[in-house]
Amino acid sequence: MNDGEAPQRPDSFFAMVGGHRTFTTLVDTFYAGVADDEYLIAMYPEGHELDGAKHRLQTFLEQYFGGPTTYQEERGHPRLRMRHFPFPVTPKARDHWLQHMRAAMDAIALPPMYDAVMWDYFQRAATAMLNTPDEHDAPPPAGPRLL
Ligand code: HEM
Repeated sequence: MNDGEAPQRPDSFFAMVGGHRTFTTLVDTFYAGVADDEYLIAMYPEGHELDGAKHRLQTFLEQYFGGPTTYQEERGHPRLRMRHFPFPVTPKARDHWLQHMRAAMDAIALPPMYDAVMWDYFQRAATAMLNTPDEHDAPPPAGPRLL
């Protein structure tokens, strides 16, 4: 087990960018943006109560970048695309998501090489999550879509 503070591998990307503290700032800043975004927040099952969503995203990202494997222990295999099926991830939703993640990355201000690696990952991952076409002139999707 790992308390989330001490990186297991000092050469991991997770450790290089500042470990748990960096990911806490990243995810807190990201979700502050989401909370203020009418279009995105309508999709979150727990509404403005985002502590659970924050914890899931943070543990996932820490694990993905070589830190503690808490996400796997708590949630099993990520299967991220499948876990997003209940939510209409439109191109507009992806763009909003990325806009908040860009602001969060600006807050952690990584050296350019690390910034580029992480930003490239977010752009590819967010595009891979698309599952619904944009609906022009339609109101924002309300709540989680029930399959
Ligand atoms: C492209 C736009 C995206 C939208 C609109 C979106 C939306 C959501 C929503 C509504 C949830 C449920 C919140 C909750 O867990 O309570 C969720 C969960 C999650 N999202 Fe996204 N997401 C997007 C992209 C991404 C990307 C790019 C990643 C990773 C790099 C990601 C990682 C996660 C994780 C780890 C969870 C929790 C999964 C679990 O249940 O264990 N999401 N997302």
